Amino acid sequence: MKTSMLQGAKIVSTGSATPSIKVSNEQISSIVETSDEWIFTRTGIKERRILTEYGHSVTNLAVEAALQAITEVSMNPADIDLLILATSSPNDLFGSASSVQNQIGAINALAFDLTAACSGFVIGLVTAAQFIFNGTYKNVLVIGADVLSKWVDWSDRSTCILFGDAAGAVILQSCSINSNSILNFHLKTDGNYTDYLSIAYKENLTPHPILNLYQGSFKYISMNGKEVYKFAVSQVPLSIISCLKDIKMSINDIDWLLLHQANERILIAVAEKLAISRDKIISNLSEYGNTSAASIPLALNEVVKLNKISNDDIIVIAGFGAGLTWGTIILRW
Ligand code: COA
Repeated sequence: MKTSMLQGAKIVSTGSATPSIKVSNEQISSIVETSDEWIFTRTGIKERRILTEYGHSVTNLAVEAALQAITEVSMNPADIDLLILATSSPNDLFGSASSVQNQIGAINALAFDLTAACSGFVIGLVTAAQFIFNGTYKNVLVIGADVLSKWVDWSDRSTCILFGDAAGAVILQSCSINSNSILNFHLKTDGNYTDYLSIAYKENLTPHPILNLYQGSFKYISMNGKEVYKFAVSQVPLSIISCLKDIKMSINDIDWLLLHQANERILIAVAEKLAISRDKIISNLSEYGNTSAASIPLALNEVVKLNKISNDDIIVIAGFGAGLTWGTIILRW
């Protein structure tokens, strides 16, 4: 992290929201040929939440999570300077952040979407931190929210078992440099593998009859599961090691490992590669599945509300996913 800092940044509150409708592995087994045993042993997932209300979208979850975080610190929404909505499932391709800004009354906030799939929250938090470090803003609301249930092909058993809907939010606030909690970050993209995980826009075969223009629509999620798995277990440990090394920290300094909740086997494999004990892994996969950009703030909010995290604990956060893009943040709580 090569940043000239005028101010430090710290997370002052968290929030999350999930739909009430649970879908169990048994229920999925009635839609596609699979079983609770297959899904649980390969992924660690037991159930996921899906947004079923007509007219509800990612913004409903994002608003609920944001209001929780705002209420927790009794903040006036008008004091939020910037709102970043990390999502890859907006309900408006021009962006959904402005609708969230309007609904929560963050009337003074610049609001924009950030599209980076499952790494969206990590990149959103790093982006927010830059605006704080350089003195531009004091209060930034970062939301990770996705409703991939709307983008999954429910007849494709290789993907529909994995994903769930949720939102998580944090408020990142300026503080003195000595109290800064974003100690370092490391972000990477390798566009060679963009096809491994995508929701591609596909053009129609026939063009517009007069303009000769090809229009089309977005298709369902497609994924090369094996390659994504290999990528995650090889690149994430390297990213974490390099991020720690930069600031002369070691694996022994880590109190908590908070990885993107994609697959329990990935969490365990990464922890084993780094020789981090399993009791330091934060995981709520069994209940929510992979909630994309929401997974890290959702899990963070859960452990914070359970008072598991103590002041000064070192949390290593790592996101990975489509792009392929991945990244680590070292956080002092
Ligand atoms: N139920 C039962 N069988 C299934 C199945 C399901 N839901 N999905 C696939 N299978 C079958 C396959 O058809 C294949 O059968 P075959 O051997 O007869 O061809 C067999 O199970 C093995 O499939 P494979 O894709 O090799 O399984 P896997 O061990 O790689 O596990 C994943 C699949 C998706 C669980 C695993 O690859 C994974 O977790 N990858 C990472 C995905 C991820 O995290 N993506 C998001 C990143 S942000």
